[in-house]
Amino acid sequence: QAGDAAKGEKLMKKCGACHTWDQGGKKKVGPNLFGVYEQNCGHNAEFKYSDGYHKACEKGFKIDEAMLMEYLADASAYLSGVAGEKVKSKMTFKLKKEADRADVIEFLKGNK
Ligand code: HEM
Repeated sequence: QAGDAAKGEKLMKKCGACHTWDQGGKKKVGPNLFGVYEQNCGHNAEFKYSDGYHKACEKGFKIDEAMLMEYLADASAYLSGVAGEKVKSKMTFKLKKEADRADVIEFLKGNK
């Protein structure tokens, strides 16, 4: 079921400690998320991603709906699955509820 972008925008508060998502926003602990939806991994040249992220990105992934559904639940588990070995993401935060993830994804889709 599709998420609710307005609810997703409220949920983005949880991301704000580490991310901005406005156009041209600064990087924090994590990269700026403006227009991140449907980008290829590693697209943000200004941000130094983790080794785990790079290992997964060598295999290739895209920041799409299916990716975000798994990544936002457990970033290290997602990257490990793509990399084919156990790796760690620098993003340790987990958005546990599937409905919340769907809402955040719907928000990110429109944030471009
Ligand atoms: C990476 C989304 C919360 C830290 C990412 C990426 C996305 C994302 C889409 C990949 C960006 C890219 O490939 O350019 C979110 C959302 C959040 C959230 C939607 C809230 C629901 C957090 C929090 C933290 C964090 C709370 C810090 C405690 C990071 C870091 C990375 C990252 C460090 C880089 C990962 C790496 O290099 O392995 N996030 N994030 N995120 N996020 Fe988050």
